[in-house]
Amino acid sequence: MTAYETILVDRKGRVGLITLNRPKALNALNSQLMNEVVEAATAFDRDPEIGCLVITGSEKAFAAGADIKEMQDNRFPDVYLDDWLGPWDRLGQLHKPVVAAVAGYALGGGCELAMLCDILLAADTARFGQPEIKLGVIPGIGGSQRLTRAIGKAKAMELCLTGRMMGAEEAERAGLVSRIVPAADLLDEAMAVAETVAAMSAPAAVMMKESVNRAFETTLAEGVRFERRLFHAAFATADQKEGMAAFAEKRTPDFRHR
Ligand code: CAA
Repeated sequence: MTAYETILVDRKGRVGLITLNRPKALNALNSQLMNEVVEAATAFDRDPEIGCLVITGSEKAFAAGADIKEMQDNRFPDVYLDDWLGPWDRLGQLHKPVVAAVAGYALGGGCELAMLCDILLAADTARFGQPEIKLGVIPGIGGSQRLTRAIGKAKAMELCLTGRMMGAEEAERAGLVSRIVPAADLLDEAMAVAETVAAMSAPAAVMMKESVNRAFETTLAEGVRFERRLFHAAFATADQKEGMAAFAEKRTPDFRHR
């Protein structure tokens, strides 16, 4: 496996685990970490033995945002021409489902990274926010867009304009996170969710992710049409035959992910 310096990479069964690992900087997202996360996630996405990914941080911080010290002297032409932060978009384009397991701070780019994932599990210690305004900038990895879609304009506008953090309970009430778990159980829970997803038919899981995400990109009629086409396409998979035969025969399906 490739050697990384800012992340830890592991695999358990069909789950690929990426742990952000810059403890001294609260997992601040510098360019090296961005490139390593994108590279590791892309490798898992292409690996037929992997069905689901988990991205997590430390007990204290999922990630405290883009690395302020790295970016403070940036100049417009350089970041514009380099498409700085652009590689993060590739995380949103992964085929396989990604679970974010968030404990502690998920601020700025950290909150944005969590929102790039498909299932967001929060420890009771999680704190979310887009504090970029306090630095004289705005979010740059989709925070103003994805937070607004997740929790609505009123709350997103207040959080983005004031830089206020919200705790796990408020985030769950607002619809940002799917579930809160005790901090000590966070990784086990996230791995269990990922193992459940990874055990499903891989083509069905990828179709499901694509279809749900389409809801954010299109009209209802087009989204339903898209879903119907993928639903029809699912009948071309061996796993559909296996899944339905297993139901009829009252046994557990043995999906081959084809
Ligand atoms: N970038 C660089 N370094 C950071 C960092 C960041 N985003 N967040 C924390 N660190 C560093 C601190 O500088 C400190 O390093 P030193 O020990 O060398 O001084 C170390 O991590 C520990 O941080 P603190 O001492 O500040 O820890 P704390 O517990 O007192 O506070 C915190 C925690 C409230 C999260 C605070 O660190 C903080 O406010 N961090 C910045 C949060 C932020 O503004 N994030 C948005 C960044 S901009 C962005 O993300 C843009 C975008 O959309 C892409």
